[in-house]
Amino acid sequence: MAVPDKILTNSDLEKIVDTDDEWIVSRTGIRERHIAGANETTASLASGAAMRALEVANLHPGDLDMIILSTSSPEHIFPATACLVQDRIGAVKAGAFDLLAACTGFIYAVNLGSQAIKSNGAENVLVIGSETLSRVVNWKDRNTCILFGDGAGAFVMQASEEPGGVMTAILRSDGSGADLLSIPGGGSRHPASMQTLYDGLHYIQMNGREVFRFATRVMAEASQQAVEAANLTMNDIQLLIPHQANQRIIEAAARGLNYPMEQVMVNIERYGNTSTASIPIATVEAFEQGRLNPGDKTVMVAFGSGLTWGAALIEWTGPLPYRRKVSPRKVRWFARTRSILARLRRRIEGFIWGNG
Ligand code: ACO
Repeated sequence: MAVPDKILTNSDLEKIVDTDDEWIVSRTGIRERHIAGANETTASLASGAAMRALEVANLHPGDLDMIILSTSSPEHIFPATACLVQDRIGAVKAGAFDLLAACTGFIYAVNLGSQAIKSNGAENVLVIGSETLSRVVNWKDRNTCILFGDGAGAFVMQASEEPGGVMTAILRSDGSGADLLSIPGGGSRHPASMQTLYDGLHYIQMNGREVFRFATRVMAEASQQAVEAANLTMNDIQLLIPHQANQRIIEAAARGLNYPMEQVMVNIERYGNTSTASIPIATVEAFEQGRLNPGDKTVMVAFGSGLTWGAALIEWTGPLPYRRKVSPRKVRWFARTRSILARLRRRIEGFIWGNG
């Protein structure tokens, strides 16, 4: 995982909008969130998380077949942020693309990565969730700006003879609720103009109460469906890793499943809602705290804009045995040199053949 150094606390927010720490903690569970600095972007955070994941997995970026990057705050409309990450880490033989399913995106991405491996199309897939929602939040709107934080998390998924990985996945959507949570401006519907800027259409717009109602309904439902599809029950699950949107939504999901809160991973207090990055960040922390061990079964469950929701039942295998040591410094140096040479080659070719 990778999060910006800069932390914004609730008391910092009190100086920006009409809110207070007590309201934010009691309604959301959030105390602080990380906010990207001027030089940090969705691609830079994603690359940081990716390098760390490759290091843990002892996998060279050159061995990656595919990079799937889930985000709702991409660097540009196009090209895909995944391609920028591909260049930064030097994943020379990987296909790369972005996936947009909002906060549910990581569940979609992990399932897609697993399917790519199961179909024998890929051996090593890098799945990243990365967001800099602080760039698209209206810092004058207390209904939304208190909720979100920036960060990234990544998984390396690998083909293996060992049993495990994604056992079942439930992926759902309902576009009739598309207007409940959106950034309406800047796309083909409302292309960027002085008017869209004036109307604030480039900011997150949210109907919090409706999203809350929807979330409390689907989180337990999707988790239940994911375990039932594997002929298991929640008693077989060692850890529930929910999307970190609101402490009350997480507690409602646990209640709906009749599942003990002690077995639910919660870190919203320190990160806020990092959208699609929240599940991989929570997974990394659970793993580092010894709450997720090889052989454990975990359910990851999320909801978000779209509307989308989904759950994945995963048997955690942990890193595969040692392959070859990856030196992040060498990898970064190689990637940078490769990128400079590729740009230089394109310029020389343009000079020789003419730009027309
Ligand atoms: N500080 C103080 N008061 C506030 C604040 C604030 N930051 N924000 C709202 N209020 C006020 C409201 O104006 C309202 O006042 P009013 O009754 O005079 O109108 C009052 O507090 C209660 O507002 P509600 O909206 O009813 O508060 P609620 O308990 O529903 O909590 C919240 C609001 C936290 C936004 C909640 O609805 C929620 O978490 N919804 C889900 C949002 C979510 O998870 N979104 C992310 C989805 S994931 C993705 O795809 C990015």
